[in-house]
Amino acid sequence: MKKLKVGIIGCGRISRFHGMPAAAQSNVELRAVCDLIPERAKQMAKLFGAPKTYKDYKEMIRKEKLDVVHICLPHYLHAPVAIDAMQMGCDVLTEKPMAISMEQAEEMVKTAKKTKRKLGVIFQNRYNAGSQLVKQCLESGRLGAIKAAKCNVTWYRPNEYYTESDWKGTWDKEGGGAIIDQAIHTLDLMCWFLGYGIKEIDCSMANRAHQGVIEVEDSAEGLITFKNGVHASFWAMNYYSHDAQVEIELACENGIATIRAEEGTVKLNDGREFCAKPNPNEVFNYGGGPSYWGASHFKEITDFYQCLAAGKQPPITGEEILSTAHKMVMAVYESGRNGKVVKF
Ligand SMILES: NC(=O)c1ccc[n+]([C@@H]2O[C@H](COP(=O)([O-])OP(=O)(O)OC[C@H]3O[C@@H](n4cnc5c(N)ncnc54)[C@H](O)[C@@H]3O)[C@@H](O)[C@H]2O)c1
Repeated sequence: MKKLKVGIIGCGRISRFHGMPAAAQSNVELRAVCDLIPERAKQMAKLFGAPKTYKDYKEMIRKEKLDVVHICLPHYLHAPVAIDAMQMGCDVLTEKPMAISMEQAEEMVKTAKKTKRKLGVIFQNRYNAGSQLVKQCLESGRLGAIKAAKCNVTWYRPNEYYTESDWKGTWDKEGGGAIIDQAIHTLDLMCWFLGYGIKEIDCSMANRAHQGVIEVEDSAEGLITFKNGVHASFWAMNYYSHDAQVEIELACENGIATIRAEEGTVKLNDGREFCAKPNPNEVFNYGGGPSYWGASHFKEITDFYQCLAAGKQPPITGEEILSTAHKMVMAVYESGRNGKVVKF
């Protein structure tokens, strides 16, 4: 089997969740990792057996003749680095969000088409047991049509989360706050469940509990109306006492689907009930990092490499995300900033 030569760009907090799954694939040779801070790159290389470290990603791609790069960088670098990498001949798997503007994301998709490279985006929560159950019950028709949806993400990010980072909490580098960084996963699930035609978005946002610390929003709420008339409401904030379980509820013709953290429950009107929980035997050692990040990075990255081996597009492509979660997040900001309904 041909092994793909793989490199990881950015060796910060999330990078282990790429290093371990990439190194575990039978069709991958983890050639090198890259970070501006050499100690971080060295630590990652040691953890996952990459023979080389670099400070400059272009040099890494060129010298190692890489086939694939993973992008684990601050948000504003996703687009320029992905575009460079595709132009240099690599397929790309980038962390969420794919970019910090519509223009950047469009350019990424255009470059993927022009260079005939594959562009995947991490939205690992689609692989959670609960998300899979709800998606299957929607697709099989068991739940019937969705009548309304709501979700909330009530998490906690202390001031130090922002002050210790050189990019978090800024418009130009993070591209936003609670929405683009934390709630984006849940908004992606809402898009994925509801089918993708967004009609309009009416949102308000504020910085309520991190004033003087961040420029961006620490809270937002709003209404997303889909083309079929379904209303989906959301509420996100970063100043709760802790990271409470994310909650999603879909009120459907034949019952109610609920997600709490990774668990999903479907209660049908005829009394039947289905439940999916994370498999306790699916434990991955990513070499550190918060345990709640679970098994789903491993699953999406494995799926990504299986698709590459089969010559298929990645399971979650840049093209799909551009017209769904990314478009939604950018419209949330436009509506929140201008106090107006954004119509498509
Ligand atoms: N999917 C998830 O659940 C999840 C969770 C956490 C973070 N993330 C995402 O992962 C990405 C990275 O987040 P993080 O928390 O690891 O950030 P981080 O700040 O911990 O790490 C970023 C790393 O990139 C390095 N870097 C910056 N510019 C560079 C350059 N030009 N070349 C090489 N290295 C460079 C920094 O030195 C740093 O080590 C973000 O997109 C974030 O949203 C995703």
